[in-house]
Amino acid sequence: MSKSSAVILVVLAFLIARCSAHRTDDGFKIKDGVIITKVPERPVGQKDVLGLTVPAMDTVRVGFVGLGMRGSDAVVRYTYVPGVKITAICDVEPDRVKASQKDLAGRGFPAAAEYAGTVESYRQLCEDPNVDLVYICTDWEHHVPVALCAMEHGKHVAIEVPSAYSLEDCWALVNMAEKNRLHCMILENCCYDFFELSALQMAREGLFGEVIHAEGSYLHNLDPYWDEYWHSWRLTFNKEHRGDAYPTHGFGPVCQVLNIHRGDRLKTLVALDTKAFNGPKHVSARGGENPEDFKNGDVSTTMIRTEKGKTVLIEHDVMTPRPYSRMYQLVGTEGYAAKYPVNQLCFRNEALDGRTPDYSKLEGEKTLSGEALSEFMENHRSPILTPELEVLAKEVGGHGGMDFIMDYRLIYCLRNGLPLDIDVYDLAEWCCVSELSAISMEHGGAPVEVPDFTRGAWNRIDGFSYAFAE
Ligand SMILES: NC(=O)c1ccc[n+]([C@@H]2O[C@H](COP(=O)([O-])OP(=O)(O)OC[C@H]3O[C@@H](n4cnc5c(N)ncnc54)[C@H](O)[C@@H]3O)[C@@H](O)[C@H]2O)c1
Repeated sequence: MSKSSAVILVVLAFLIARCSAHRTDDGFKIKDGVIITKVPERPVGQKDVLGLTVPAMDTVRVGFVGLGMRGSDAVVRYTYVPGVKITAICDVEPDRVKASQKDLAGRGFPAAAEYAGTVESYRQLCEDPNVDLVYICTDWEHHVPVALCAMEHGKHVAIEVPSAYSLEDCWALVNMAEKNRLHCMILENCCYDFFELSALQMAREGLFGEVIHAEGSYLHNLDPYWDEYWHSWRLTFNKEHRGDAYPTHGFGPVCQVLNIHRGDRLKTLVALDTKAFNGPKHVSARGGENPEDFKNGDVSTTMIRTEKGKTVLIEHDVMTPRPYSRMYQLVGTEGYAAKYPVNQLCFRNEALDGRTPDYSKLEGEKTLSGEALSEFMENHRSPILTPELEVLAKEVGGHGGMDFIMDYRLIYCLRNGLPLDIDVYDLAEWCCVSELSAISMEHGGAPVEVPDFTRGAWNRIDGFSYAFAE
C-alpha cells in the first residue's frame, strides 16, 4: 500500500469513527450529548394554525366515537351544553350505541344517527354531513386513525387524553390540522379544574413572580379498573410500551402556566423508570402470555427543561397503592402553589405590593390553606369561570365539574369563531412526552431534544390567554 493510500484510510477510519460516535446504536443523531429528534419539513403550501379561527357556528353538531366509560358520560354532559346538537354516535359495540340513544331520549333529545359494528364504523360518522365536530373517546390505538379520518373529511376534532403516543402520530395530527385549517384539541380536562384555573390566573397576574419550576403527575392505582376497559386495552398498552404512558394530566396545566409555545418552548427531556414490578403480576393473574416482557416500569419520572431555563418534573405511577395525586406544584421566584395532598399557597409578601394575603391575620402562618386559601382563590377567579358556569358545572359534574367547563369552553369558542384554549401544538407537546421519555429510558436516561412542533413560531404569541366574544 502506498503512503498516500494509507493516509486516506486512516482519515476515513477517523471520520467513520467520529460519525458513529455521533449516532446512537439505533440511529439517532447526537449533538452536544443530546439525542436529536427529527422535525419534518412543513409540506409546501401549508402554514401554521397558531390562533386559528374558523367561521362562528350557531349550533355545533357533534358526533361521538367511543361510548365506553368516558364517551357515554360525555354524551350525557353534552346534553347540558348550550348550542349543541348530538347528531351521530359510534362504537364498535352496538349495545353501547343503544345505551347512549337511551340516555339521549331520557334527556329529551332526538335520536342520533348510529354507526356501529366494526372498528371501521367511524368512517361513516366522519363522512356524515351533519357532523361539525368529532369527539373521540376510544382506546388509545384508535384516537389518531379516527382523528385523521375526521379531519380528512373537514371535521374539527377533540380527542381524549393522551391523544397520541408516538412522535409520528403527533406530527400527523399537526400536519393534517395545518393542511385542512381545522381545530384539533386534546381534551385535557385537568386544565379546567378549579385549583388549576385559579393558580393559572394568579400566575398570569404575576403573584408567583416568575414560575421557574413546576411538577405534575398521574399517580392513580388502577388495580380496580384494569378489567373494566374494552378488551383490557389499557393493560395491553402498558405491557407493550415503555415511557410515561399518560403524561398530560400532570403536564398540560403546567405548560399553560409556563406559556409553552407562547413565549417559551420545551427543549430537553430526560427520563428514568423503575423496573416493571407489579405490571407482570397483573398479566399473570389474567393468564396472559409472556408477563416477563412487560415494558412499562411501575414508576416513571421525566424532567424537561425549557428554552428559558425553567424545569418541569412529571411522574407516572398506576401500579402502586400511592394515594391519587396529580401533584400540580408551581414554584415561583415570589410564591408557591401546591394542589396535593392539600391545597397550599404561599407568597413572599413584601415583593408583591400588598397584593398577597394579609398574613398578620393568620397568626404567623405563612402558608395559606383551608378557608383563607379558598377566600384568596375566590379573589383570583379564572375569567372563564363565571358564577353561573360554576353552578352548572358542579350540577352536571364530570370529575367535580372540570369536564363540563372544558366542554362548555370548546363549544363557546366554536360558536363565537374564537381560537380554542388548547391547540394542536399543545396536543403534540403534551403527548410527545410518551415516546421521548421512552427514548431517554432506552438510552440510560440520556437527554433528548423536544421537537418544536410550531416549526419556529413558538415565540410569536405573547403568553397564554383565553379568547372571549366581544
Ligand atoms: N380525561 C379523563 O379524565 C379521562 C378519564 C377516563 C378515560 N379517559 C380517556 O378516554 C378514553 C376512553 O377511555 P374509557 O375509560 O372510556 O375506555 P373504555 O374501554 O371504557 O371505552 C373505549 C370505547 O371505545 C370503543 N372503541 C374502540 N375502538 C373503536 C373504534 N375504532 N370505533 C368506535 N369505537 C371504538 C370501545 O368499544 C369502547 O366502548 C381513553 O383515551 C382514556 O384515556 C380520560
